[in-house]
Amino acid sequence: MIFRILALGDVAGPNAVKRIKEELCGIRDEQNVDFVVANGENSAASNGIDIQSANTLFQYGVDAITTGNHTFKRREIREYLDYTRGIVRPGNFPPDTSGRGYTVLYCKNLRILVMNVLGVIYLEPLACPFHTVDRMLKGAEGKYDISILDIHAEATSEKIAMSHYFDGKIDIIFGTHTHVQTADERIMQNGTAYITDLGMCGPDDSVLGIKTENIIEKLTTHMPVKFDFSENHVTLHGAVFDYDTDMKKVVRVERFVR
Ligand SMILES: [Fe+2]
Ligand SMILES: [Fe+2]
Repeated sequence: MIFRILALGDVAGPNAVKRIKEELCGIRDEQNVDFVVANGENSAASNGIDIQSANTLFQYGVDAITTGNHTFKRREIREYLDYTRGIVRPGNFPPDTSGRGYTVLYCKNLRILVMNVLGVIYLEPLACPFHTVDRMLKGAEGKYDISILDIHAEATSEKIAMSHYFDGKIDIIFGTHTHVQTADERIMQNGTAYITDLGMCGPDDSVLGIKTENIIEKLTTHMPVKFDFSENHVTLHGAVFDYDTDMKKVVRVERFVR
């Protein structure tokens, strides 16, 4: 049996949430998607993720939500992370941080491990992402059939290095955070399906989802500027992974643009 997973890149702003709300169930049906994982770190109307945006994603066809450096922008999300099994935050935050870095979800008799980690190059100096993922894999050992890792990171080198380090140990690895889709999707030597960045589910004519004029003002004046999400047309970016349950590996990875 082919178990098809759709991974969606950073959902940026309310119009992106709205598009998912209106279209994801149809996409699931039309493309025979079994499981959807989406990065929701920018899904709240004022950036970050809040209870409303997370619940909307879950309600309209997303099975698992990963996050990133904007996870904790809204204070209300802390408790939500503690009590909601389908959402993960980067596993390399300090011990006692709300929520979890990995979760195991059930779908069609398969146990799906979803992990999230934050890169440390040009980002917060958190615990080593390599060792964090090693630790999460050990913690989940024997409790899953398919493994998925979202590496939320700025540097392509860090994501690619991690893909090699975990090649053959994790079924699906994708990067998020840059909001720009890369064209390097592939199945690696030891069987891991990989893409450096899924891209963004967000407004095309913008700077990574934000109104262009806000970013230009910021970069040219160096004054504090309020960032608003662009209201231009939204495109969904991601990747589709086909996992063969008999062969126990991903047999196809393809970029997704809609
Ligand atoms: Fe993002
Ligand atoms: Fe990010």
